[in-house]
Amino acid sequence: MDAHPQSKTALVTGGNRGIGLAVCRGLLQAGFRVILAARSMDKAQAAMDQLESTQVSPLVLDVDWDNSILDAAARVQWEFKHIDVLVNNAGIYPDQGVNILTVGRDLLHQALNTNTFGPIKMVQGFLPLLEQASGARIINVSSGYGTLAGLSSNVPSYCLAKLTLNGATIMLAEALKPKGIAVYALCPGWVRTDMGGPSAPRSPEQGAYTVIWLATEASASLSGKIFQDRQVVSY
Ligand SMILES: NC(=O)c1ccc[n+]([C@@H]2O[C@H](COP(=O)([O-])OP(=O)(O)OC[C@H]3O[C@@H](n4cnc5c(N)ncnc54)[C@H](OP(=O)(O)O)[C@@H]3O)[C@@H](O)[C@H]2O)c1
Repeated sequence: MDAHPQSKTALVTGGNRGIGLAVCRGLLQAGFRVILAARSMDKAQAAMDQLESTQVSPLVLDVDWDNSILDAAARVQWEFKHIDVLVNNAGIYPDQGVNILTVGRDLLHQALNTNTFGPIKMVQGFLPLLEQASGARIINVSSGYGTLAGLSSNVPSYCLAKLTLNGATIMLAEALKPKGIAVYALCPGWVRTDMGGPSAPRSPEQGAYTVIWLATEASASLSGKIFQDRQVVSY
């Protein structure tokens, strides 16, 4: 029997580790049914074992590939019929030993494909499911590196990808306003994950803090804004 018959459903990309896994845990604690998306079933299952909840379901999803997104959307359509919250969390930080003067086209494409085109295609692919919910929310996990004040010549592909993700957030918010779907971006701060490294001051749970608030409490009137620590910050 469903323990949360009235509960909302959230999908988290890159839910198998780091901030994504902490977001899954926080959403479960907030009463959501969670669809934990990972690039393989083994990764999803291993993460689910850590969550120890009957309210989490695995989903194989690689945001780099349209076919993977569409297959995943068809599976969620069949099983859940709708989603209330989409958390575009999956991301990469491929800039090692490059700067804006040396970065190659391949690296730029790789970062933009995963960090920017992925979330845009996720919204397109899952839009029919978001439209089935009342007051759906899309949450793009961005970065201070993607704000105008945070751009760094030594982190070229990641900065440009997150800057573009922030721009996409503004445009998606405008396009989805008539459908009553809110779109937010946020910076989680510097977080101790495989990406952030062991010296980062924040725990994954602290990184998830603003995501949980955006999923549960933030006003739809704030759609199109970027947040840090549950406060609006400048693009
Ligand atoms: N950590 C920080 O300090 C920090 C700061 C600002 C913003 N962020 C943002 O926060 C988000 C999560 O970062 P994190 O620190 O938790 O990173 P992480 O520990 O490196 O985890 C990244 C997650 O994204 C997944 N992923 C990567 N490429 C993917 C793809 N093509 N399709 C689906 N999933 C993919 C990974 O899956 P696999 O396990 O299969 O690789 C993993 O689950 C990212 O968007 C990142 O840019 C992080």
